[in-house]
Order: sequence, then C-alpha cells, then structure tokens
Amino acid sequence: MPKQDFLALTDLSKDEILELFGTAAGLKSGERRSNLLAGRTLAMIFAKSSTRTRVSFEVGMYQLGGHALFLSTADIQLGRGEPIKDTARVLSRYVDGIMIRTYEHSSVVELAAHASVPVINGLTDLLHPCQVLADLFTMYEALGSVEDRVVAWVGDGNNMANSWLNAAAILGFELRLACPDGYRPDCAVFKAASAKTRITITEDPDEAVRGAHVVNTDVWTSMGQESESDARALAFRGYTIDEARMRLAHDDAIFLHCLPAHRGEEVEDEVLEGPHSRVFDQVENRLHVQKALLVRLLQ
Ligand code: CP
Ligand code: NVA
Repeated sequence: MPKQDFLALTDLSKDEILELFGTAAGLKSGERRSNLLAGRTLAMIFAKSSTRTRVSFEVGMYQLGGHALFLSTADIQLGRGEPIKDTARVLSRYVDGIMIRTYEHSSVVELAAHASVPVINGLTDLLHPCQVLADLFTMYEALGSVEDRVVAWVGDGNNMANSWLNAAAILGFELRLACPDGYRPDCAVFKAASAKTRITITEDPDEAVRGAHVVNTDVWTSMGQESESDARALAFRGYTIDEARMRLAHDDAIFLHCLPAHRGEEVEDEVLEGPHSRVFDQVENRLHVQKALLVRLLQ
C-alpha cells in the first residue's frame, strides 16, 4: 500500500474522518488497546515554537508504545541549509513517520514528496489541519453533530481559517467568516470550499456570530508575522470576542480557540474562562485525535 500523508484535511474523506473519530473516542475512553505503535518512531521537525503540538505528539507516541524525536531546525542540518529532499530521505531511513511545523506549505509538500514514510503537517503558514481535526472532534462531543451546525470564524483569514474552510467543504456545514479587508483566507481554499458548501464572508463580526453554534477565533498576529503586529492590531480593532458578542450566538454555542490566546485582543478573559468555552477540551483532544491519526498512518 502506498504511504499516506496528512498535509491537509482534504487528505481525508468524510468517512475517514468519522472513522478516525471513532478510534479517538475509543482511545480517549480507554476502551481501545493503546500499545499499537510499539517500536515505532516519529521525527518531529519544528521551525516554529510549540507547546500543544509538541507535547501532544510526543506524549501520544509514548502512550502508543512508540517514541518521538524533537528536532528543532535550530539544531539539525536543515536549519543550516541541508536540502529538504535530502532531509526527507535521511529521516526515512531511520523513522516511521515525520511531523513538521514550518513556514511555507510548499516545504511540507516537498518533504512529503521525497519521504518514503508518512508526513504530518503540524502547522504551516497556510494550514493547521491537526488542530481543526481536534476541534471538529470537540464539536461532536459538545454538540453531538457537525454537519447541520453553523460555525463562525472571526478574525484573521489565517492557517486556522483555511483549515476550517477545508473542514466545511468535507463535512458540509455552514461557515461564516468575518475578516477585515486585506486579511481574508487563501483565495484558492476559499473558492474550493464555496463550491461544496455554504460559505459567507463579511467585515461585520456580529453578522457572522448571530445564531452560530460555534464561535471561533485565533491570534491576530501568527508566528512569523511579528513585524506586522501594530498594523494588525489596528486592522482587527472591533473584532474582539467579548460576552456581548457571544450573547448573539446560539444559546448553547461553544467558543473555540486553538491557543495560545491573547486576552484583551482577539478574545476577552470573560469568554475564554466563561461557560461557553471549550478551549481546554480542544487542548486535550489534540492528544486523542492525533493518536488515532498516528495509528492510521504509522501502524
Ligand atoms: N494550537 C497549537 O498548535 O498550539 P502550539 O503552537 O502550542 O503547538
Ligand atoms: N495562527 C496561529 C496558530 C498557532 C497555533 C499561528 O500560526 O501562529
């Protein structure tokens, strides 16, 4: 069987996502045997900071009986200019899978093209599929369904927004985006999703949030964009999720944020710590969903 990568949510069908969530639920409840990756090793390349992704993948591999290697690009030869295609072939001779967090999405595509083992996208400037997979699982847990729900995205049209567009395209739910002019999602990802399901975009956060079952946001300045943070703070003025805005959503709405959060910018503390927030369930579900993904790709 050819190796399977996970570079984008669109690498999985709806049925495959649901099957993965079944495995994740089994692992989470402890019903499923967990020593499924005994003797397997995952290399984890990080060109950007991480708390959740690093810890959840490392702990996940350990819990499955395998091992994970943390490889910062500050330490490996990739950071000194060794080509990606060489790194891919070198690591493939040692490990059973590679997870990578980096800048350009094309670097991950190139890595996957030259690696003979599965490659997992742990975040690029374009996409963050592992996070949104865990978020969808969190939605199923909290709301019981995803397909018939309305999801609001408020803020930057960034890697998270692009992955939510992919998710909407696969699962068929309605996605409403509120993004300032100049900060819209990737055009190709937006067009592809719009062809599959109901996607709307506005500059009015209230319009996006009204009646929504999920209210979702992320930082205004992503990793690698630090020099733009002043301009971004201006552009996103008025986009903060506070209690008043949350009240516009459905009564049972949940608030999601991939974290790390900047309280007082994209979200107020009262929302992050409030009754609608499921942010720490998202955190935990990274572990269970990624374990299911690792079992699928590496076993
Ligand atoms: N949400 C997320 O990916 O967090 P980290 O940057 O800490 O990995
Ligand atoms: N959009 C954020 C997500 C961090 C998990 C970033 O790319 O920095």
